[in-house]
Amino acid sequence: MTQHHLNAPDVAPRLPGPPSPWFGAAHMQAISKDFLGYTRQMHREYGDIVFVQMYWEKVCLLNSPELVRAVMVDNAASLIRQERAIEVFSRVHGPSVMMVEGDDWQRLHRLLMPAFSPRRVAGYARLMVDAAGPLLDRLVPDEPDASALVNMDELTSRVTMDVICRTLFSDDLGDTARAVTAASHALNEIAMRELMVPMTLPDNWPLPGKAAKRHAMRLFDEVIDSHIAARRQMPPDQAPQDDVLAMLLAAHDEEGGGRLSEAELRAQCKVIFLAGFDTSAKALQWWAWLMAEHPQQAALAYEEVSRVVGSRAPQAEDVPNLPYLSATIKETLRLYPPAAGLLTRRAMKDIQAGEWMIPARSLVIVSPWVLHNDARSFPQPDVFRPERFMPDAPALPRSAWMPFGLGPRVCIGQHFAMTEMTLVAAMLLQRYELTREPGQPEPVAQLNLTLRPAQTLKLRMRRRSSMA
Ligand code: HEM
Repeated sequence: MTQHHLNAPDVAPRLPGPPSPWFGAAHMQAISKDFLGYTRQMHREYGDIVFVQMYWEKVCLLNSPELVRAVMVDNAASLIRQERAIEVFSRVHGPSVMMVEGDDWQRLHRLLMPAFSPRRVAGYARLMVDAAGPLLDRLVPDEPDASALVNMDELTSRVTMDVICRTLFSDDLGDTARAVTAASHALNEIAMRELMVPMTLPDNWPLPGKAAKRHAMRLFDEVIDSHIAARRQMPPDQAPQDDVLAMLLAAHDEEGGGRLSEAELRAQCKVIFLAGFDTSAKALQWWAWLMAEHPQQAALAYEEVSRVVGSRAPQAEDVPNLPYLSATIKETLRLYPPAAGLLTRRAMKDIQAGEWMIPARSLVIVSPWVLHNDARSFPQPDVFRPERFMPDAPALPRSAWMPFGLGPRVCIGQHFAMTEMTLVAAMLLQRYELTREPGQPEPVAQLNLTLRPAQTLKLRMRRRSSMA
């Protein structure tokens, strides 16, 4: 097999990728300004693997499921997370499972996994439904045909924050929910900006934005610390036994890694909270938009929910019996993958990807935004077509759909997220019909760590008179 190497200009054919004059300054600017547009343009112009210089970085964009698997799965041991991402997020989380590598990651992963097994997640379903029910009920007056124009970001953030808080701590945030949502949105925006520059100046310097960052981090620390402290003070027979915190406190590494230290416990609670609420909130927001935009598919999903669940509260056992509803969610995650651009890795060795050699120290970027829009995997990729994900549909190419990442560092909460989104979506459909307002433009996707609509998305929610 031919091997092509970035550092060997005499080897033909030329490496796929654009010229990078001035050390690729224009490329660095373009990807920082519009990650989504830039990565799709590179795919269109140069194909499945693109090498591009961006200042000091040799960047390799991987754009086919086969090449992505060759790197992220077959060569996972030769990759680490991008150092800059570790630096930026570690300041917020501390030593979380998302931020550590090697043996430290193995140990934390072993300690956390049991809390996210399908059996445990089924146990959280009741907490999820209890969290979402009252919030959804009070959106619109309780009269048939009553309606309200609802800010979908506020709604989905509130619901998923309540879900994560109850599953983590068996508690809700009460009056602080709005402030905590604002703080975590601010932290996302700050992290997104910081990722695009090589270093962060100290947070205690009197610079623009630093006070907001300190405030957001303090509020967030207080929420996590106060819940852990409250739990430690509870008499053991009164402490909840079935939430994530109970699992983390009880977790013990059979392979000699002991229990979580206090700093590790806080860091895991933080990462679960942050990774767990915003991603699901954005996904549910896009799903609601797609339901409003596609009444025919929304009617099919509603018909399924009516038949399987009726008007009672949905439960974990219903989820496998709602294949069409699940397919609408999977298709939403395809069109609008919440973590559209977060999969960056540093190659620690030369890595063979198909016929190409990715040199050690390259920065590898994998973007579900690009992979999910490839007509070879998803014919007519811009069309919302849940049928692609029905059990009788032709099999998709392996790893073509990867909203939760892939390889050993795949999302630990993917089963949690799918269960949560299916239950909340079923509860929304049970209560409301979603429509867009006349003349309302299609929302434009924008990457702010997670993929969100660039403008506030409001949808009309009309109370249903009864279940079909
Ligand atoms: C729609 C919802 C979600 C999406 C799209 C999503 C997506 C992702 C992706 C793409 C990764 C891999 C990042 C990488 O490889 O660099 C990841 C990792 C992770 N996710 Fe999620 N996630 C979601 C929900 C959740 C939930 C609900 C939780 C927890 C309750 C969670 C916890 C985590 C953690 C802890 C990691 C780090 C895993 C590791 O590095 O070992 N996520 N997620």
